[in-house]
Amino acid sequence: MCERTPDTVEELRKALVASEERYMALLADVDRRARELAEREFRGEMTRVSSELAHDLRGPLQTITNSIYLMERKPGDTTYVPKINEALRHATALLDGFRDYYRGHEITPMPGNVNRLIEKALEDVPVSGGVSVVKRLDSSIPDGAFDPSKMRRVFAVIIGNAVEAMPGGGSLAVSTHVEGDRVVVEIADTGSGIPVEMRDKVFVPFGSKKRGGFGLGLAASKRVVEAHGGGISFDSEVGRGTTFRVSLPSNRSK
Ligand SMILES: Nc1ncnc2c1ncn2[C@@H]1O[C@H](COP(=O)(O)OP(=O)(O)O)[C@@H](O)[C@H]1O
Ligand SMILES: [Mg+2]
Repeated sequence: MCERTPDTVEELRKALVASEERYMALLADVDRRARELAEREFRGEMTRVSSELAHDLRGPLQTITNSIYLMERKPGDTTYVPKINEALRHATALLDGFRDYYRGHEITPMPGNVNRLIEKALEDVPVSGGVSVVKRLDSSIPDGAFDPSKMRRVFAVIIGNAVEAMPGGGSLAVSTHVEGDRVVVEIADTGSGIPVEMRDKVFVPFGSKKRGGFGLGLAASKRVVEAHGGGISFDSEVGRGTTFRVSLPSNRSK
């Protein structure tokens, strides 16, 4: 293409419009490619996650199959009923955890206040007698737009993990404050801490799980927080404790 240097205002204007169109086309192309790449990455991730899910479901399903086989051989024998119920509960909870992860990006934001969500999340988690809870909720934090049930669940997951990290008791400090146009929540425990080799796996679905856990809570939480335009991170010291930090945009950022 031979392009002469424009030398009249009209020609300059035309050249400007043409380059703007080229720029917009390029942007659209970059956008399309980024979406394709993200989709491919997500598809790859889902393949891995569903095979992990199938693997973890095999245990309870096998228990149910075996129990039913044994019950058929001994009609009237109900000893296996609690075992079947427990396996069903486990399989259902695992599928619920997977659904929370899979649908993490689907949020329905509505006006709300983080402090209220924290209070609700604290009601959701049984805190044992050995754990003392310290709340420092800044009453002046501005409202924001949150999916209330999904964000409540995020805080309940983090608080639940903190409590589980302190089986011998300890202190759970939950605080909120404002940082510029963001509301920041910090949930700190004096528990076991997260071993260095586990730190880059905690947000990966099935990346690390404790006995009785599914390894999906933080992975789902990260997707939910990011769908709100927020961030989630932690600081941890083995033997001393862990602090999780969630930052969310507030109404002040608009
Ligand atoms: N506050 C914490 N203290 C110590 N370890 C933690 C804490 N929070 C998360 N973890 C680690 O991160 C892992 C992933 O957490 P999560 O996704 O909730 O899965 P799980 O079902 O195992 O609780 C946990 O198994 C635990 O090892
Ligand atoms: Mg957990």
